[in-house]
Amino acid sequence: MTDIERRKSAAPAPTSWDYAPAPESRDVVTLRERYGHYVGGEWLATPEEVDGAVRAAREAYANGWSELPGSERAKYLFRIARILQERSREFAVLESLNGGKPIKESRDVDLPLAAAHFFYYAGWADKLEYAFPNRRPKPVGVAGQIIPWNFPLLMLAWKIAPALACGNTVVLKPAETTPLSALLFCDIVRQAELPPGVVNIVTGDGRTGAALVTHEDVDKIAFTGSTEVGKAIQRELAGTSKKLTLELGGKAANVIFDDAALDQAVEGIINGIYFNQGHVCCAGSRLLVQESIYEQLIGKLKRRLATLRVGDPLDKNSDVGAINSKMQLERIEELVAAGKEEGAEIYQPPCKLPEKGYWFAPTVFTNVAQSYRIAQEEIFGPVLSVLTFRTPDEAVEKANNTMYGLSAGVWTEKGSRILWMAQRLHAGVVWANTYNRFDPASPFGGYRESGFGREGGRHGLEPYLEFE
Ligand code: NAI
Ligand code: MG
Repeated sequence: MTDIERRKSAAPAPTSWDYAPAPESRDVVTLRERYGHYVGGEWLATPEEVDGAVRAAREAYANGWSELPGSERAKYLFRIARILQERSREFAVLESLNGGKPIKESRDVDLPLAAAHFFYYAGWADKLEYAFPNRRPKPVGVAGQIIPWNFPLLMLAWKIAPALACGNTVVLKPAETTPLSALLFCDIVRQAELPPGVVNIVTGDGRTGAALVTHEDVDKIAFTGSTEVGKAIQRELAGTSKKLTLELGGKAANVIFDDAALDQAVEGIINGIYFNQGHVCCAGSRLLVQESIYEQLIGKLKRRLATLRVGDPLDKNSDVGAINSKMQLERIEELVAAGKEEGAEIYQPPCKLPEKGYWFAPTVFTNVAQSYRIAQEEIFGPVLSVLTFRTPDEAVEKANNTMYGLSAGVWTEKGSRILWMAQRLHAGVVWANTYNRFDPASPFGGYRESGFGREGGRHGLEPYLEFE
């Protein structure tokens, strides 16, 4: 150990290392100039295809898919999962081009999780009777699925895999800013020789989504996106027999107790809010720190923040990529301006943002009061609001002081405290000494304005089944 440099400060090692550019090659993805809608196994390109897509899905449903033995449906899903793995590099590059997320994340998170989701639900396809004993599960019919732009391929997997495993057919609409991975996925659908019409993809903005929601031959709507649109869909479907699940926004509390392992907690905080530029519904956007460790933790957090590299999503060294759209950047800027206005103290590490494109530096707000907009509203960007607490009761009260209820994090060395907190936090998912950890076997979903219904796990089959 003699030749290792000893430094006075316990701060993470030098922040001044230079990294040579390490861009992924764009050549592994080939895109066409234009795509139409993928309907009934063909590319069509006229605007009124929603109806055609629903008809194709209905036909495929009636002409065999819903009657296939589960073990046969499973083969298709396993096939899709394997092809996703085989083509994962290509899809990872495309996903970064699609939405601006760092290649490190599309490669190590989005792609493996998307494949895992298909593998997982392939396993359930022939075991539905065991999943729901004595309830005679039957598919629902045609599912209309509307997904957002933050995890385009992963949300597609979350929607399509359970729907197909249960014997439904689908019409899926990706978000208008990120249709590319869904369109290339049609290639996999063909490669897997899925019967035409089982998976249909229609592109377009909210109007295409609305046409799908109101189409009379759609039996189930699954939506992930903003609370505002979720509420509008719920109003639209009130009084109809269509089934509905909504996965909406969040304003999760990440709660750090004074007995937590602080360096690990700092990694969890960073992963909680800067992962995918903070475009994450379950992001740990409100940090609740126990007062006795406040100064120490904020010091560590700021030092760690300075090591984040913001830039080219295709560069393998980038930690934080591009903001998804101009609109989203403006929303982040508006809320950050409100935070300053209301009296919070802003910290951003020195970092050079690329000139071209939409970028936002990793940001921490301290001195935040619960009433501030940055403590109440979903920012959906790399912006953390820090609040403090003294007792566990106060932590619970502050954590639950939100209209949302999607997720939460607890950091402490005491198992009993984790359980105590988990019972009191109004959140669909509570992570303990970790954050943003996903597994297809684990149900995910919210309470209150975060929506209802669960995706993932055995729970995730239920919205796609009818019971006698
Ligand atoms: P959005 O809810 O408008 O978009 C999500 C999806 O819904 C897109 O595919 C969009 O085309 C579709 N859509 C829009 N209007 C529709 C309608 N009337 N009927 C059916 N489908 C419709 O979300 P947006 O405007 O992109 O983002 C606004 C805010 O929403 C973000 O700043 C963020 O706070 C939140 N959000 C939350 C997400 C989550 O994962 N929970 C995902 C995306 C946004
Ligand atoms: Mg919108």
